[in-house]
Amino acid sequence: MIADLRSFAFKTTSYLQALLKFFQAALQLMTQRYRSASLRFKIAFFVVILMTSTSFALSIVTVQIMNNYILNEIIKRGESVGKSIAASAGYNLLSKDLLGLDNLVFKAKSSNSDMLYVAIVDLNMKTIVHSATEMIGETKPVAQGQLFRKDADGTTVKELTNSSDSIFEILCPIVFMKKSLGSVVIGMNKSILLEAQRKVGSMILIVFGIIVVLGMFSSSLLASFLIKPIKELSAGVEELKYGTAKNPLRIYSQDELGKLTRNFNEMSALIADQQGKLTKYARDLEDAYVSMVKVVAAAIDARDSYTHGHSARVAQLSLLLGKQIGLPEADLRDLEVGCLFHDVGKIKTPDSILLKKGKLTEAEYSEMKQHVEYGASILSWAPSLSKYIPSTRHHHEWHNGKGYPDGLAGDNIPLFAAIISIADAFDAMTSSRPYRKALFKEEALSRIARMSGTQFRPELVEIFLELMEKNHVQDAPLSVVRFAG
Ligand SMILES: [Fe+2]
Repeated sequence: MIADLRSFAFKTTSYLQALLKFFQAALQLMTQRYRSASLRFKIAFFVVILMTSTSFALSIVTVQIMNNYILNEIIKRGESVGKSIAASAGYNLLSKDLLGLDNLVFKAKSSNSDMLYVAIVDLNMKTIVHSATEMIGETKPVAQGQLFRKDADGTTVKELTNSSDSIFEILCPIVFMKKSLGSVVIGMNKSILLEAQRKVGSMILIVFGIIVVLGMFSSSLLASFLIKPIKELSAGVEELKYGTAKNPLRIYSQDELGKLTRNFNEMSALIADQQGKLTKYARDLEDAYVSMVKVVAAAIDARDSYTHGHSARVAQLSLLLGKQIGLPEADLRDLEVGCLFHDVGKIKTPDSILLKKGKLTEAEYSEMKQHVEYGASILSWAPSLSKYIPSTRHHHEWHNGKGYPDGLAGDNIPLFAAIISIADAFDAMTSSRPYRKALFKEEALSRIARMSGTQFRPELVEIFLELMEKNHVQDAPLSVVRFAG
């Protein structure tokens, strides 16, 4: 027996623990879902819960008030009828007027449909008159039930518990000439109350359903009304974050939300203004920087009267080629500045070598070749110029790997360097030098074509030749970067 009890207790505990875990997991899941749910759902959910619980509480209170009211009315009526019979029955009892008593009972019973029975009993609870004639002469047992009320005149109201019907039994003493003669006993049926409860219950259910549906609809409407400006504000913050904000947000109301939207619009306008100023400062800075680069390039070219304007021409040709191969605008800007910088290292090349009219010795040529590394070194001093190092360092590399300074080959040569290489060579060949005259354009192009695949990248040469044959040089833009001033 004890073992059975232990087993039962163990099983019950295990079951309760499992149930608890299940509820904890369900609660956790609901909490997570609620946290990730939209604001609209949360507001609608809250309003529906509030309306439902309020309606439910109001329904309970209403039913309770109605019950008490109807119950009191039923009992009051029963008491009133009972007291009225008792007042008249005293004389009839003394005069043993059974017909008169029967008349009183009959009238009361027939005019009150919810009276189950009406009787007059003597002091020994023996039935003298009864609405059910077969009960006459019977001794009425003392009613078992809960005492509901007892008045000062001895009238008692009991709720019977030993009956299949719900009955209130009202007992009114019959007193005549200060002498107790018996009692009037009335059984009141609660069916009116139950019927009223049923009707009100179904009415409440309908009203409750309407309230819930209306609640859901109105809460959804309210949520939309409240959420709309919040959603627009959220989208506005997102646009501000990515710099795509254009128009100020619409202000829907003058409440806290409206104030927040107005402040956001002001803040957004301020940020846009600051951004505009910053952009202007950046543009001015860039203009100054480009001017500086052009001045440096011009200064390098100016050292040698034969190379005057060389960097600018290389830039012009390179841009033509860069555009033809579809480089984006930003790359074209970098390509142009890279062209202006490509020979910046010559600033360290001695005049005796740079301006020498005769052929360079091997040592002098080695020193001349150093200009690419000097250039890379100069550009490395400023982090913002480091992106021009590859084109500066490698514009004398050959496609077959026999160039300098690193002997890079093929596609290992940076694209800008490969472009500058062709433009540089073409401009050098078509410019007069101390030791030779300028070549004609056709001869220069012919030499470039011959060096395709050895010195120059073949794909670029092909495009370059096509462009030059169409004589596009004159149409080419002088610059893609803006000039200052
Ligand atoms: Fe060079």
